Amino acid sequence: MRLRNLKNKDVLLEECSYLIHEPWEYKGKWHEVFQNCQPIHLEIGMGKGDFIYEMALKNPDINFIGIEKYSGVLARAIKKYPQYLPNLRIVCLDALKLEQVFAREITTIYLNFSDPWPKRRNQDRRLTSEVFLHVYDSLFQEKKQIIMKTDNLGLFASSIVSLSKHGYILEEISFDLEHSLIPNVLTEYEKKFRSMGIKINYLKAVL
Ligand SMILES: C[S@@+](CC[C@H](N)C(=O)[O-])C[C@H]1O[C@@H](n2cnc3c(N)ncnc32)[C@H](O)[C@@H]1O
Repeated sequence: MRLRNLKNKDVLLEECSYLIHEPWEYKGKWHEVFQNCQPIHLEIGMGKGDFIYEMALKNPDINFIGIEKYSGVLARAIKKYPQYLPNLRIVCLDALKLEQVFAREITTIYLNFSDPWPKRRNQDRRLTSEVFLHVYDSLFQEKKQIIMKTDNLGLFASSIVSLSKHGYILEEISFDLEHSLIPNVLTEYEKKFRSMGIKINYLKAVL
């Protein structure tokens, strides 16, 4: 995601009360952060964060944590969030390091418009590759649920294969989310693709 530099980025990040600066300190203790035992949902690659904010607003009985690799992108989310939500936290982290931060405390993972990494030599970098599915195994409580949206058919197809090989069952699937009956909260990328008439693929996988 290319972004122009945000002038007050460091101040925004420093002063943000819901950005967790040292997330590894809470491994296995995220309920202490939220001060309740509600289920915890994770979005990996939250970008500028419209989806996770609206999900948290609409679902106060679920805790949400947004993960994003780039601090500049996170700062954009912080800048536009209108208010503090007690059930939302954000973390600047590469998904490869998720095991250092969570231990069997997540119930749902959202992967929204993840980078497709189309070249074969980069397939392990896809957030639904076998490499990442193993990482997610150690984050989930007993039941696992991955919800994915993408415009990219290649990524969608390879995700169906890797999720199935890993034992997941595809509980819901759509090749045109907008015209399905599946309830949906839009992401920034999704809004852009919709305005261009591009169909969105959706799946819910459970294990
Ligand atoms: C194409 S954007 C989609 C943003 C948002 N989910 C949406 O749908 O509008 C992908 C985002 O995932 C982030 N990302 C990619 N790989 C990541 C990783 N390994 N760990 C954390 N974030 C990652 C990128 O920095 C980028 O912000």
